[in-house]
Amino acid sequence: MTVQFHEDFSGKVVIVTGAGSGIGRATARAFARAGALVLGVGRRKGALAETAAGHPGIVVHPADVCAPDAPAEVIDTATGRWGRLDVLVNSAGATKLMPLAETTADGVAGLFDLNVTAPSMFARAALPHLRRTKGSIVNVSSTYGHRPLPGAAHYAASKAALEQLTRSWALELAADGVRVNALAPGPTESEALAAAGLSETTVEEVKQDEARRIPLGRRGEPGEVAAWIVRLADPATTWLTGQILTIDGGLDLT
Ligand SMILES: NC(=O)c1ccc[n+]([C@@H]2O[C@H](COP(=O)([O-])OP(=O)(O)OC[C@H]3O[C@@H](n4cnc5c(N)ncnc54)[C@H](OP(=O)(O)O)[C@@H]3O)[C@@H](O)[C@H]2O)c1
Repeated sequence: MTVQFHEDFSGKVVIVTGAGSGIGRATARAFARAGALVLGVGRRKGALAETAAGHPGIVVHPADVCAPDAPAEVIDTATGRWGRLDVLVNSAGATKLMPLAETTADGVAGLFDLNVTAPSMFARAALPHLRRTKGSIVNVSSTYGHRPLPGAAHYAASKAALEQLTRSWALELAADGVRVNALAPGPTESEALAAAGLSETTVEEVKQDEARRIPLGRRGEPGEVAAWIVRLADPATTWLTGQILTIDGGLDLT
């Protein structure tokens, strides 16, 4: 599903992490359709190439966002190529089923490395450039960043941390004219459940259960989420900062 507003990102440079699938892929394409020059980041070269196919505005850069040198390398690649950076979208992320009885320190650290530390280090590396362009950061949280998620508490906690970072950075950077917002999607079609190691049968069961619980009666499409990420980043959205926008078919209200 493609949802289009009329944002104009001509001449703007956008980095999207997690661009090889799901919400990140739809976001990279939505920015490119709006005229942006997009650097799409992820680990799988083939998946990134598929994201960019037919979208001349997207250039891809394979990297593990958790690697210590990745943030500087990715930001230097974008600014070296196009001379500026206007938007950072931190979409790379993962979920993990980890009931308390099975919680391990490695499991907690892995989730926080990817969902909290990596977005922090990317934001830090992007900051000097965003100050120059009065650009913006969009963090991809989750409905479960502000509601409990039994059985995957540390995923929810990592997204809660990202939401608090969003609010604190928004205040910290407001004087520089850099806006920081977060998009909190509900259950959305993507590779996330498979990437969490669930079997095909379990994935189907989870999807049906989620669709039943969502007031609008279905899971979301990545394009429906991406449209709002673009809108949060739009330079015309001049007075919005520090906000967490939940797009989840009403799940948050239940
Ligand atoms: N789908 C949902 O229901 C949902 C709901 C709420 C929030 N979210 C959030 O939305 C964001 C996007 O997820 P998605 O649903 O679109 O799932 P997805 O299809 O699994 O996309 C996540 C992307 O992140 C990339 N990634 C993972 N680890 C990485 C790493 N270490 N370095 C670089 N890239 C990495 C993956 O590509 P590689 O494996 O190739 O690196 C993948 O393309 C995540 O932050 C997720 O937590 C999703």
